[in-house]
Amino acid sequence: MSVQTEISTINELVEQAKRVLPGGSFGNMPAEVILKEGKAGRIWDEAGREYVDFLLGSGPMFVGHNHPEVTAAVQSQVPLGTTFFANNRHGIALAEAVCDAIPCADQVRFVCTGTEADLYAMRAVRAFRKRDKILKFEGGYHGMSDYALMSTAPKRPSNFPRAVPDSAGIPKSVQDEMLIAAFNDIEMVESLIEEQKDELAGVIVEPFQRLIPPKPGFLQALRAVTAKHGIPLIFDEVVTGFRFAYGGAQEYYGVTPDLCSLGKIVGGGFALAAVAGRADIMHHFDKLAAAEEDFIFQVGTLSGNPVAAVAGLATLGILKQPGTYERVFATGRELMAALSDLLKKAGIPAQVTGEPPLFDVYFTDQPIKDYRDTLKADGALAGRFNRLLRERGIMKGESKYYVSLAHDRGDIDHTIAAWADAIKQLKAAN
Ligand SMILES: Cc1ncc(COP(=O)(O)O)c(C=O)c1O
Repeated sequence: MSVQTEISTINELVEQAKRVLPGGSFGNMPAEVILKEGKAGRIWDEAGREYVDFLLGSGPMFVGHNHPEVTAAVQSQVPLGTTFFANNRHGIALAEAVCDAIPCADQVRFVCTGTEADLYAMRAVRAFRKRDKILKFEGGYHGMSDYALMSTAPKRPSNFPRAVPDSAGIPKSVQDEMLIAAFNDIEMVESLIEEQKDELAGVIVEPFQRLIPPKPGFLQALRAVTAKHGIPLIFDEVVTGFRFAYGGAQEYYGVTPDLCSLGKIVGGGFALAAVAGRADIMHHFDKLAAAEEDFIFQVGTLSGNPVAAVAGLATLGILKQPGTYERVFATGRELMAALSDLLKKAGIPAQVTGEPPLFDVYFTDQPIKDYRDTLKADGALAGRFNRLLRERGIMKGESKYYVSLAHDRGDIDHTIAAWADAIKQLKAAN
């Protein structure tokens, strides 16, 4: 088939999608992005165009697409049954691997998505503390539940600690159950916690919020003030788990929460996520251990299914091999430095922000330490840059470069060349 024929195929698919999907898409990426195949650090769309892939399925494909060990594990499980709604040895082994890896994890409850993991982590601390309110941070993302969708991306932020709903359809009452603080502002968090300690069930935080690293000492101080009042601290490690280190952000930053949520990498590209944490909090999921009024009723059709479990186990097996994190970090460091350098040489004010496995650029001359700083950046310019990059064979989400263990020399060189060319275009247009 010629490229022209394949472009018309993609146009037909876009038309078909527009008929049957709201907005013509699954809700994640623009309707015209229709992907067909992935191998290691590259993907191809339905028109046969090739991209270096920094979308990585929004993060799960950390070891690369179609990794031979993950594919073999899945192929060996599929003929034996894909889901049972009961314990299976692979899910049990994965739970044990999580407990071995993640500092806060005494026990694990599997679910299918990060949204669920965060929802149940918040429910668990409410059951444990017998209180309702949760403190979260402005700009922090914890999935799609009513409680999580508070002040995640407010266009008009309100006064702290008042929450702003991010979506239509959320009951008004939920707003009053969430308190909002500024990420990296420990004075604000400490005074809020002191003031609200008798109402608070727990605190949920992305230890690395979207692209913003914690200031030195921030997570430690947050740990100290929550521990002082016996308020459980939840780390949302859906993104950072097994990515920043084998033991997640809690290992990387050296701060252990009481509970965490995991997703993305732990399921090896299949539907699996988890709540993990202290046994005395996890006991609320145990009908036999918890008093009737303290029991958290939680089931899920595909929870811990053996296909996702073997994919997760194979992925963790790859990550445990010596040198994996050093390699990802070296790739990320080289990319971050190259992007920063190119933008600086072009005289474009920009902050390359993040950690080597996950970063992006904000077009502003101001450092980024919290959500409100991100609002000062030029989002339209970032959108233009992303579009120019897609035309040059770079696929990424709106605001993230996910680095993969599979990204090789060719991928890095292609990316840097694409950045150089796209930056030249940005300059020419200004
Ligand atoms: C930090 C964080 N928490 C939770 C979620 C929700 O995970 P899922 O999309 O699997 O529901 C995401 C998804 O990107 C995330 O980045």
